[in-house]
Amino acid sequence: MRKKLAAGNWKMNGLTASLTEVEALIAAHPAPGCEVLLCPPATLVAAMAGVAKGRIAVGGQDCHAKVSGAHTGDISAQMLKDAGASHVIVGHSERRADHGETDAIVCAKAAAALAEGLIAVVCLGETEAERDSGATLTVIGAQLAGSVPEAATGATVVIAYEPVWAIGTGRTPTLDQIAEVHDFIRGELVKRFGTEAEGFRLLYGGSVKPSNAAEIFAVSNVDGALVGGASLKAADFGAIIAALG
Ligand code: PGA
Repeated sequence: MRKKLAAGNWKMNGLTASLTEVEALIAAHPAPGCEVLLCPPATLVAAMAGVAKGRIAVGGQDCHAKVSGAHTGDISAQMLKDAGASHVIVGHSERRADHGETDAIVCAKAAAALAEGLIAVVCLGETEAERDSGATLTVIGAQLAGSVPEAATGATVVIAYEPVWAIGTGRTPTLDQIAEVHDFIRGELVKRFGTEAEGFRLLYGGSVKPSNAAEIFAVSNVDGALVGGASLKAADFGAIIAALG
């Protein structure tokens, strides 16, 4: 049985004052039947971990593939772990687009996360043009094959399917479209990892809100969500967590 996961991605939002939302979230959900993860900007990882005290998990939004060195402005998986993180998002479409991250780079980052004992949340997603041209499964298959490291297991890697055109737009795929991609991802994982594939959590991401969370969570092979905007407010993220379990 896969444990459901509600993951929040604060992106480049949040100051120290925002940590009150974490207290409110934990107070509202003392015993959720799912795991809860928040990924604040790197500046808040240590402080959020201090507030969370293990009651929810805290993660980074990116890491470098190397442990240390001359990489100004970058952060390693080891540093995230040292700051109290247990997870790290890699390959988010905003990083793929803004920083030119290829599948190979994302794969190296995920491998670095695993080497430090962090759980990697590996993001995949097609653009609107790719969907319109019927290339969605081809694109997702290639990203999955190229971005998930060989050492991955169901316990160490989470896959997030996030259509680029659904992120921050208020638009979502139909439930059938979500099911098609999630079932496809599961099938590809089975081909590559055999029985281990059943252990990987598959999250849907892109405009998940309290109003659509329950119907998305009922879709085949959806084990939770990666939530951007709606994770910033405890009331909204709390409602999504409640819908999950
Ligand atoms: P959104 O972002 O929920 O604001 O659409 C999702 C994400 O980018 O992880």
